[in-house]
Amino acid sequence: MASVTSLSDSVRQHLASALSATLPEAAGADPLLRRSDRADFQANGILALAKKAKANPRELATQVVSQVVTGDELIKDVEVSGPGFLNITVTDRAITGNLAARYADDTGRLGVPLKEHAGITVVDYAQPNVAKEMHVGHLRSAVIGDALRGMLDFTGEKTIGRHHIGDWGTQFGMLIQYLFEHPGELAPAADVDGEQAMSNLNRVYKASRAVFDTDEEFKERARKRVVALQSGDKETLELWQQFVDESKVYFYSVFEKLDMEIRDDEIVGESAYNEGMPETARLLEEMGVAVRSEGALVVFFDEIRGKDDQPVPLIVQKADGGFGYAASDLTAIRDRVFDLHASTLLYVVDVRQSLHFKMVFEAARRAGWLTDEVTAHNMGYGTVLGADGKPFKTREGETVRLEDLLDEAVQRAAEVVREKAQDLTEDEIRERAAQVGVGAVKYADLSTSPNRDYKFDLDQMVSLNGDTSVYLQYAYARIQSILRKAGETRPVAHPELELAPAERALGLHMDAFGDTVFEAAAEYAPHKLAAYLYQLASLYTSFYDKCPVLKAETPQQVENRLFLCDVTARTLHQGMALLGIRTPEKL
Ligand code: ARG
Repeated sequence: MASVTSLSDSVRQHLASALSATLPEAAGADPLLRRSDRADFQANGILALAKKAKANPRELATQVVSQVVTGDELIKDVEVSGPGFLNITVTDRAITGNLAARYADDTGRLGVPLKEHAGITVVDYAQPNVAKEMHVGHLRSAVIGDALRGMLDFTGEKTIGRHHIGDWGTQFGMLIQYLFEHPGELAPAADVDGEQAMSNLNRVYKASRAVFDTDEEFKERARKRVVALQSGDKETLELWQQFVDESKVYFYSVFEKLDMEIRDDEIVGESAYNEGMPETARLLEEMGVAVRSEGALVVFFDEIRGKDDQPVPLIVQKADGGFGYAASDLTAIRDRVFDLHASTLLYVVDVRQSLHFKMVFEAARRAGWLTDEVTAHNMGYGTVLGADGKPFKTREGETVRLEDLLDEAVQRAAEVVREKAQDLTEDEIRERAAQVGVGAVKYADLSTSPNRDYKFDLDQMVSLNGDTSVYLQYAYARIQSILRKAGETRPVAHPELELAPAERALGLHMDAFGDTVFEAAAEYAPHKLAAYLYQLASLYTSFYDKCPVLKAETPQQVENRLFLCDVTARTLHQGMALLGIRTPEKL
């Protein structure tokens, strides 16, 4: 694979060597380069260096400038500004040449190199619960987790998904006991589609709940069933498996609607850690990390206190011997660290569970399972709000079902697509509407910083104006249409051509694609990539307004502008793909 050194890296290297030639003790110092409005780049690093060397910053900057080689190849001009900043302008040739090298990379990576020291990140995301409807909260975990994986993979990190589904616990005693007493109430999973699966599960859930709440003897039988489940009774496990299988049919149908690939071997729910939980408890107790308190096995934290300033413990094992959510998460950590060899554990889970994770991570650190090298982070995301600024609910005050929400988004998108559609068939409109609608929902989520709440506003989400995925998708489709119209004339880079300001701005922005993905991945900040892509589409729009493409003055200019269009399209496509959003060729 051909990796391309970015323009900013090349300029940084030039400045660094000019700097160390001027001031030997500054060898290896960072010139602190960033994009600037005044020139192409500005370097601010000389100020601090001058201070350290007790030199006059402007004088030092002037000396550095005299060492910088300017010419045709890279740096056209460099000058001192303000108290000792450097303003750097690169040549048009360097901009076009750099993009041409990226364009020549046929791996789709646009010349972006893989990172040198890749680790293994286990991403815990998209974790619905068995026998329960998926709601808008599960949307965020799935969408953010999927985007983070896309970005991390792109940097060269190896990611392993873990869908820690809620498939274990006391509620299954009630469900299984009911099924035991009413055999045949759940149709075999192979015979149902997602919608039927969920309605069957709902029916059984409601029916069993009704008996459970009114019949004391049933309650007792349900309690015994939990014990049978946890101790691995065969018949009980078979019935439990029916619930899991039926639920998976449903999950897969929703994830398909979400246009998200979920792998079966990565669905490893709470139940998978059942066998390891006694061992987890034993290890924690032996190490003194957990202690017995009123019969339960718990971990205490000095700094975590609840009501009346009483310490809030993490319960590893209940007094009745049962294990819960914390034990499964602690066991999962052992599995991920020692069997999957993870260097990073990432949890994409609602911020409301942050105390749970704080305690689990701290307990794992005390046990030596997490260290300075093997770390865990909870990407606690905020709440999805309705137009009224309160947690998103239906008009009846119920939580919104994920499928309903996606269906509505697709329906709205269909209106937008139909209005604009010129040469699309009904089938094409339907397909585009799904890509636009689901993309809109994903983008609205991803373009907000994950820890913030956001308003679910479909009108805004499918709007053609503003920071929406539809705007980005239209920019992409418009480029494809220009490339089609160009017919025989193909995109060709002509580095010898002078560039208009709008072309330079577009080109310099595209040079920053790799750096942006790396930064967004390292900070677990998909919104930074979203913001980058939005700016890319905006810069393209102003290029398109100011620089005629097919009607440019010379044939070379037509080719070069087509080339700029195509690099833009590829960058948009790649960036959106990392976020899990499609870019239709025609809209
Ligand atoms: N299933 C849980 C829920 O719906 C989320 C699981 C999060 N992951 C974890 N390792 N605890 O609330």
